[in-house]
Amino acid sequence: LRDKYITLIANAADEARLEDLRVQAVGKKGEISLQMRELGKMSAEERQVAGPKLNALKDEINSALAAKKQGLADAALDERLRAEWMDVTLPARHRRVGTIHPVSQVTEEVTAIFADMGFAVAEGPQIESDWFNFDALNIPGHHPARAEMDTFYTHRAPGEDRPPHVLRTHTSPVQIRTMQAQGAPLRIIAPGRVYRADYDQTHTPMFHQIEGLAIDKDISMANLKWVLEEFVKAFFEVDDVELRFRASHFPFTEPSAEVDIRCSWEGGTLKVGEGDDWLEILGSGMVHPKVLEAGKIDPNEWQGFAFGMGIDRIAMLKYGIPDLRAFFDSDLRWLRHYGFAS
Ligand code: PHE
Repeated sequence: LRDKYITLIANAADEARLEDLRVQAVGKKGEISLQMRELGKMSAEERQVAGPKLNALKDEINSALAAKKQGLADAALDERLRAEWMDVTLPARHRRVGTIHPVSQVTEEVTAIFADMGFAVAEGPQIESDWFNFDALNIPGHHPARAEMDTFYTHRAPGEDRPPHVLRTHTSPVQIRTMQAQGAPLRIIAPGRVYRADYDQTHTPMFHQIEGLAIDKDISMANLKWVLEEFVKAFFEVDDVELRFRASHFPFTEPSAEVDIRCSWEGGTLKVGEGDDWLEILGSGMVHPKVLEAGKIDPNEWQGFAFGMGIDRIAMLKYGIPDLRAFFDSDLRWLRHYGFAS
């Protein structure tokens, strides 16, 4: 009996088989339990011999069962560890993630710099009425500036003199919209997309501008100069800059000036604040009284400055990018080359 169970237990393949054997041997109606019940029918002498033997056998079977159970559990754990093994020293798989486009990055940078000087962000529509894009900015119907702007026109209804809407050619219409909506005093910047039918290394039909506008009781060109100096220093990360105001003409400012910054192009890389070259970065001026009137602001009480800057252009300068068109090609190899994608 002993050898039979010891062998069966040793060969048990799993816990279920082990439990069967336990019931068969030492369960309530198991072989050994039944024999123990026979003890009562024996004489005292016989019982003294058979009793301890049976008890010892029962103990031996129970410990064999327990030992085998532990053995099976250990084997199962070993098997699991083998199956679930992994090499934590393997290099991680490279995951490509999206990044912010350089034009968006620069827009955010510029916006943050002007926000520090108290300028709030304003917006206007990209499909703009002819009036906001031109007339309100002192560019009447047959003004040559309209032809110069290479405007994209929307559909013109039969019998209409001009189409009612254009793709805005600059962010300046946001000046009018904000003046009308908020009145004076005012300090805003308006970044956004603008459109002109033009295409070469430095022109794309869609590009980005940022408009600045400050209106108050006694704003002057000196305030404009200070604001722009602070901006250029922060944006190009230099301690000193020299600006040059070149007389110019825009219908919506009087006087008007184009602003250049002193720079050098040492070995093809731009250095701001030193050298003998001048780099044009924006158009600006004092807001024309007619523009204030279109914005429903009294020009006898208020005055202000405005400027408009090409975001893509200053992004090209800051990052040394030679061809503007690459900004809008969505070529991942190009974006990675300039560190704009992973
Ligand atoms: N709107 C002008 C342009 O598109 C720039 C500008 C804005 C000039 C504001 C003066 C004042 O070129």
